[in-house]
Amino acid sequence: MKIFLDTADVQLIEQWAKTGIIDGVTTNPTHLSKTGGNPTEIIKKICSLVGSVSVEVTETTPEAVYTQAKAIALLSDTIAVKIPCHIRYYQVIKKLASEGISLNITLVFTLTQGLSMCKLGADYISPFVGRLDDIDTSGIKLVEDLVHMRDMYGYETEVLAASIRSVDQLHEVIVAGVDIATIPASVLEKAVSHPLTDKGMEIFLADWKKLNITRFC
Ligand code: E4P
Repeated sequence: MKIFLDTADVQLIEQWAKTGIIDGVTTNPTHLSKTGGNPTEIIKKICSLVGSVSVEVTETTPEAVYTQAKAIALLSDTIAVKIPCHIRYYQVIKKLASEGISLNITLVFTLTQGLSMCKLGADYISPFVGRLDDIDTSGIKLVEDLVHMRDMYGYETEVLAASIRSVDQLHEVIVAGVDIATIPASVLEKAVSHPLTDKGMEIFLADWKKLNITRFC
């Protein structure tokens, strides 16, 4: 299973890339707007730090989305172009996929949207767990259904759980069998930490010091 960091913050990405547990990054226009920097330069920098980087289109007409997606893909071999899962773009998605452009179809909220994107040849589908939970609909159920559908029909599209706002949601999507979870750094930090780990380390060290050994191995 792959873990992506859900941010465009280069410093955070650098820090987490060093841990070795990050396989990629998902950006979106909101993340990039928060950096205040030049988006193209930031994306190139991120691509130099991690394996897979999702970058979203910002154009709106199908023709402009097609042209922009091709230009974004040229920035790096490791970019997956994010396109919203809207019927307006289905034709463009099919064309781009057939031309070998790696696509991460974002804002997936129904099983049929996900199935449609598998049929069009998307590399990734991104169900938004937190945003479904926000409207009292189970985001985890959608993730489970998408994984089941993908496996049952043998599609190669990877299920990328997005909009994860808590450690519990992260653990649920792991158990649901997602291929990738994209997580904000704050959630990942909590998920990899535990007070009993810290306490256990303190106890072991304190006991060891009782031996008064100056050097061991
Ligand atoms: C991922 O691709 C999305 O950019 C992100 O997970 C959205 O998360 P949010 O719903 O917390 O904004």
